Amino acid sequence: MTPEWSSSPPELLLAVDRTSGRPLHAQLQHGLRDAIRTGRLQVGERLPSSRELARALGVSRGLVQECYAQLQAEGYLATRPGFATRVAAGAAEPPGDPQPRSTAPRLLADFRCGVPDLGSFPVHDWLRALREAARAMPTAEFDYGDPRGSARLREILAAYLRRVRAAATDPRHIVVCNGYAQGLGLAFRVLADIGVHTVAFEDPGSPDTVAAAAATAGLRAVPVPVDSGGIDVRALAATDARTVVVTPAHQWPTGVALAPQRRLALVQWARDRDAVVIEDDYDAEFRYDREPVGALQGLAADRVISIGTVSKSLAPALRIGWMVCPPELADPIAEQKHRSDRGTPTLDQLALAELIESGRFDRHLRRMRTTYAARRAVLLAALAEDAPVLRVTGLAAGFHAVTHLPTGVVEQDVVTVARERSVGLYGMSAYRASHAAEPAQLVLGFGNVGERAVAAGIAAVGRLLMGW
Ligand SMILES: Cc1ncc(COP(=O)(O)O)c(C=O)c1O
Repeated sequence: MTPEWSSSPPELLLAVDRTSGRPLHAQLQHGLRDAIRTGRLQVGERLPSSRELARALGVSRGLVQECYAQLQAEGYLATRPGFATRVAAGAAEPPGDPQPRSTAPRLLADFRCGVPDLGSFPVHDWLRALREAARAMPTAEFDYGDPRGSARLREILAAYLRRVRAAATDPRHIVVCNGYAQGLGLAFRVLADIGVHTVAFEDPGSPDTVAAAAATAGLRAVPVPVDSGGIDVRALAATDARTVVVTPAHQWPTGVALAPQRRLALVQWARDRDAVVIEDDYDAEFRYDREPVGALQGLAADRVISIGTVSKSLAPALRIGWMVCPPELADPIAEQKHRSDRGTPTLDQLALAELIESGRFDRHLRRMRTTYAARRAVLLAALAEDAPVLRVTGLAAGFHAVTHLPTGVVEQDVVTVARERSVGLYGMSAYRASHAAEPAQLVLGFGNVGERAVAAGIAAVGRLLMGW
């Protein structure tokens, strides 16, 4: 894309040393050549006008013109009458590693999990929301803000979460963060500060993410098994954990919902143990053929930190999430957030507030539900057609499913051969605390795979999945 330049001159750090005895024009030429060779100035970049550079360096304009002409003759610079001088297309490449080019081959279908349909990001709605947010932003809000985040976004989120997730929310107890990953780290640090030593996590789950965040906060992380009803609360009670990370609405990655009795048992465990449950509410917006499941936080606002994110509903690149905190943890978490980065960018927060309040966020979610439901239907039809013996589970919500490979089929072999056929498949072993490869299962993400690619990808690996 050709950048549009503002009328103000580009800044360029160059110096001349009047005490060195070296002629000024030689110093200037050397400085510019060096900037181009080392990549400080890159092909196509605009240089200041001769008048501006002369003024900045305190030299004559003629000297700069002479220098530009010399470098033009050497092929470093290019200029046209009436246009700015730029670094020429053939100017020396900077030394060192060339720009890494993607060597990853294009896949027929990549069933990578956790990525929403990136092409459906509502660019126009977001731009509109950003513009509106910037236009209406009070001057005082350009300052460092409340570490909990923008008051407007917190109010809108509180209403949204009450409406959509049946959460018990008060804007004073919401802390805006940079996605789930940051929220988890903030929560762990605060819990460590109040004497928690051990955190439990679901197995299968996100062992590496949780273990890394726990280690950073000085916590020990222990796995607790998940079965068809969600996390095993008895097994949890047998550990010494005083906090647990769970995905109640749609367990990651098995896709089961936490059974009603388990929800109650988990809350009871938290009360008995004086513990805190961290609820990862990561893809609760997308459900298909089952009743909506409210946030666990709605059952025990004093015991649950519920972390939400727009990474699945909009795009991971936005890096916006929120933490609904028990009242007494809200201030310490906000303090950690302040220490960590002084706050999530306010303009983006206000744009999200605008997007939600205008109804465009809901509209986007409705559209995406239809998109994912269609992909899910194609996936099921393709598996029924091309790999009919496979059991598929976890499809009631979100945009991933689990396929159970027949006995004797080796997960890694399937993943490797599928890759040779240009299909990206991912095994369950990565999500088990032990990384055990049995039972052999695949976690198939279909969020960022179009319907045709889903069908073509499954057709390419159907027999392989069945071990034929
Ligand atoms: C289980 C789970 N929760 C939440 C997220 C979202 O994380 P973030 O909001 O930091 O992008 C992910 C990302 O893949 C995830 O796998």
